[in-house]
Amino acid sequence: MAEQRYGIEKSALPRLAKLLERVLNDVKPNPEEIKATTRSINEVVGKLKKVTPKNVEILVAGSVARGTQIRGSSDVDIFLLFPRKMDEKEIEKKGLEIAKKIIDKKAGDTYSMNYAEHPYTKIKFSKLALDVEIVPAYKIRDIKERSTAVDRTQLHNDFVISNLTSKQRDDVRILKTFLNSRHIYGAEARIEGFSGYLCELLIYHYKSFERLLAAFANLKLPLALDMTSLQPEFGKGSANVKKYSERFGKDFVVIDPVDENRNVAASVSDESLARLVLACRELIKNPNDKSFFGHGYSDIGARAKLSKLSKDLGTDMFVLHFKTDEIAEDIIWQQVKRLRLKLNDTLTHHGFCPTLSAQNMADNEAVIAFFVVKDLTIRSCITKGPSVIMGEAAERFMKSHSNSLFFALSGDSIRSTEKPKFTTAEQLLRHALTPKGVDFPSYLDKRRTKLFVNSTSEGIAKMIYQAYSINVSL
Ligand code: CTP
Ligand code: MG
Repeated sequence: MAEQRYGIEKSALPRLAKLLERVLNDVKPNPEEIKATTRSINEVVGKLKKVTPKNVEILVAGSVARGTQIRGSSDVDIFLLFPRKMDEKEIEKKGLEIAKKIIDKKAGDTYSMNYAEHPYTKIKFSKLALDVEIVPAYKIRDIKERSTAVDRTQLHNDFVISNLTSKQRDDVRILKTFLNSRHIYGAEARIEGFSGYLCELLIYHYKSFERLLAAFANLKLPLALDMTSLQPEFGKGSANVKKYSERFGKDFVVIDPVDENRNVAASVSDESLARLVLACRELIKNPNDKSFFGHGYSDIGARAKLSKLSKDLGTDMFVLHFKTDEIAEDIIWQQVKRLRLKLNDTLTHHGFCPTLSAQNMADNEAVIAFFVVKDLTIRSCITKGPSVIMGEAAERFMKSHSNSLFFALSGDSIRSTEKPKFTTAEQLLRHALTPKGVDFPSYLDKRRTKLFVNSTSEGIAKMIYQAYSINVSL
């Protein structure tokens, strides 16, 4: 057995148990709430039955069906399972048609289409106070029959329903709450954290929330959990673990028990995993509300808070503000991230020192902030050239750097000291926004992008302060 540095003190166990009981009490829907939701779901399923062909099965899936949902925050996932002989385009079309038929516009129901790997419909039932996702998929019995990404969900349902005890389902709820308050619950791009199904598998594997706490507080990488195997845990040093980490390109792998080719933890970034490790250690050391829920922050007066932060860091704050269209959140987030990293590199490359950057997005807008060492003016910079032994290459280099202040040698390589293209970070960023500046990702429109220097609106400041606070809340 590996060394366990972090363990829950026996004397702290009752305190932890009390804390978890309180958390559960807050987040687990009570029997009346569950009854009311079940009644509403039955009503929706009833509506669906009337408009769905006999050969299509209606399946309530996701956390609500498995008893791992959180009060008030779980959508209801309803799957329409079509026979496999139908064409994929056809089931997508039928899925949308069926969903539209059960909406009562007069009653205030609204719907929107979502395009994941294939389209599904989100409905807000006004009277029932219920958010439902209607997802078309194929009816399968075995993973070998899978053709769309969402076909697996019905098998996940079976796995969780037949393998988790009711105490473990409650522990899933506690784990989801813990991760959520640490900003690492969810597989979406802006979180890069733990999905609901991954929480279910982790509790199944570690048996309880307390054991999971101890395991992650003492995490060693690489780690592979393979519930399709008789011996499901492959830790550091085991002969097999490399096989998993190489196959999936990750140090932390959780094999889907219903599909040995899928790493359910693929969405978890190294950073999110590290956050969980720190959070587990903190909770073990001090089982209290603060350790469980993390360190909150207030974004009231965000503008003033950002000014103070920038002053303390000795930086100027540059903010890019984008207007975005109705594009999937994951895509916009990734594009904003790519641009942020690229501009950060460009700033560094030109001699400026960005000490902190952050990004955030809301409905139809996104922001990137850079905090760059204040008043930094670059008067000269060095460009490295080739070795003079290379003959022509060195000559070509000197010719093409005709604006050089002087050439000098570093070993046998030639170097040019010259005036920089940009003397200030502001110049660089303003240039980036011109048509000739850096390439923007496809959904970020330069013409609708604004640069703010050391001051923004309170709304934009809130977005930045939020992102910063989450980044630094370890
Ligand atoms: N699913 C998945 N991988 C994802 C997202 C979803 O396999 N990255 C499947 C899972 O089987 C999951 C189901 O789709 O249980 C429904 O997804 P979602 O509603 O996001 O998660 P829930 O498990 O229902 O959790 P929550 O309580 O957050 O709704
Ligand atoms: Mg759900």
